[in-house]
Amino acid sequence: MCGIVGMIGTQPVAPLLVDALKRLEYRGYDSAGVATLSNGQLDRRRAEGKLANLENQLLLSPLEGEIGIGHTRWATHGAPTQNNAHPHFCDGIAVVHNGIIENFSEIRDQLKARGADFSTETDTEVVAHLLASLVKNGMTPPEAMRATLNLIRGAYALAVMFRSEPDRIFCARNGPPLAVGHGSGEMFVGSDAIALSPFTDEITYLEDGDWAVVTHDGLEITNSEGAAVERPRSRAATTHAQVDKGNHKHFMEKEIYEQPEVISHTLAHYIDFSAATIRNVPAGMDFERIHSLKIAACGTAYFAGMIGKTWFERYARLPVEIDVASEFRYREMPLSENEAALVVSQSGETADTLASLRYCHDHGLKIGSIVNVRESTIARESDVVFPTLAGPEIGVASTKALSCQLAVFAALAIAAARARGTLATDEEQILIRALSEAPRIAGEVLNEIEPQMVELSREIARHTHVLYLGRGTNFTLAMEGALKLKEISYIHAEGYAAGELKHGPIALIDEHMPVIVIAPNDRYFEKTMSNMQEVAARGGRIIFITDRSGAAACDLPTLQTIILPDVHEMIAPLIFLLPVQLLAYHTAVFMGTDVDQPRNLAKSVTVE
Ligand code: F6R
Repeated sequence: MCGIVGMIGTQPVAPLLVDALKRLEYRGYDSAGVATLSNGQLDRRRAEGKLANLENQLLLSPLEGEIGIGHTRWATHGAPTQNNAHPHFCDGIAVVHNGIIENFSEIRDQLKARGADFSTETDTEVVAHLLASLVKNGMTPPEAMRATLNLIRGAYALAVMFRSEPDRIFCARNGPPLAVGHGSGEMFVGSDAIALSPFTDEITYLEDGDWAVVTHDGLEITNSEGAAVERPRSRAATTHAQVDKGNHKHFMEKEIYEQPEVISHTLAHYIDFSAATIRNVPAGMDFERIHSLKIAACGTAYFAGMIGKTWFERYARLPVEIDVASEFRYREMPLSENEAALVVSQSGETADTLASLRYCHDHGLKIGSIVNVRESTIARESDVVFPTLAGPEIGVASTKALSCQLAVFAALAIAAARARGTLATDEEQILIRALSEAPRIAGEVLNEIEPQMVELSREIARHTHVLYLGRGTNFTLAMEGALKLKEISYIHAEGYAAGELKHGPIALIDEHMPVIVIAPNDRYFEKTMSNMQEVAARGGRIIFITDRSGAAACDLPTLQTIILPDVHEMIAPLIFLLPVQLLAYHTAVFMGTDVDQPRNLAKSVTVE
């Protein structure tokens, strides 16, 4: 999604703004721009495409000024052209915006009727025009800001400069996050703390409905009721060094290879391996009391929830209902106080997940959240936060966040099982021992299978459709594999429950269709083998991801068999996820796509 930065500095800010925007690249964008204020004049440079294009423009025609705002745009209203790129100007006012102004066409029509001349297709331009018309009618910039925020509807983070206010940046938040960074004699604004990490780690987050005036020395915040408020100042955990690619070609590759380490950190937070017990699971979720659990999440985080559901139901005998958050929020499902809700989100800012959280909160449910960004809105609005310790995830396609979400779900399911008395101590210890082995096995598997996955990716890259099949948690991995492949390589892929094959998708199978079957030798193995027979009988090209005993038990012809170690079923999703991620990654590299910032996608989806 769009990224916002702003700076009031003591040196020329344009290059620093671009530097900060680079740290927001991971969110996804299709154009960018910066504006500065110097000697009473606002000026801007904007460019379609990557930030390198903006940098070239600034090289040819530098911008002066020690105060400025910048933006990476992810198009919602109007094509990703230079003209639609932010900042938008109107009569000495510059605006950058993240989110959607829902009533923009109504406001634009009113302003047009009064003679305003719009030059872009964006919703954002109405904010610049509205502010300008209010100032023209005699309001001061703060008054115009307050009045504008009362008139616009929707989700937004805004940063605004007025030509008449050379020492102030105005900003506002209603939905998408906005962080203000404190320096010494300089101040910063950013969509997140990562953008500001080279400049400061002292951060104040605006809350929904807040607007603020940022000066060289600090900030004044006003809440939605018009009262001056203080918001806590915290030290962000994100450091400059963490947003480096290291020796890897892409962030996604780096993040795949970080998994053994981050799974280990996350597990160690929740499990005391020396005592073989769960720790750091606050009592707030009332696992022993509740009758069922609701889970809402989007995309890959939703798949984490599906596997979490399996574990909660199997080990804790706790019924779980799970839905994608965009459906959950509108289902109007009856909720009772005998239930609790868990939302899952890497960014902690996903609009639909946040709306689901608020729906459950309004119905009196206790809310737990599994989040990676601890300062995020979802974390702040939850009763109990279960952090994943994945570190910043920069690649748009989620990898290490998913494995850490699974690690948290595993620990929570065991904690719930203990609270509900559904798991004998020796069974609990077997599960914990299995989890303790996951980081080591993951590391070994990544190293062992990489050459095979590179080779296989060449084959997959020749196809336009791919089918993934699995049962149980491997059905979820089949869907995750298909999602990863389509989002970064743009090859069409579907993930199906293997048992559903003959209810429709089997019609697609011929000698051209690669079918990736994920089937360790588990409780479903024989059933999945029958489905593989059905594929083989129709000439489908089977790629078989299994374990040693599964490979030994299978005598069907396969195009390739990827053999992983035999592992306990609790950690199987953490291990079988790895070939699925590597296959998508190498196929995308082979296809030459923009792996870390695939087209049309955003890292933090703050609009519904
Ligand atoms: C897929 C992917 C997305 C996210 C989804 C939810 O690789 O990254 O499907 O999982 O947009 O995002 P978060 O977890 O930030 O709520």
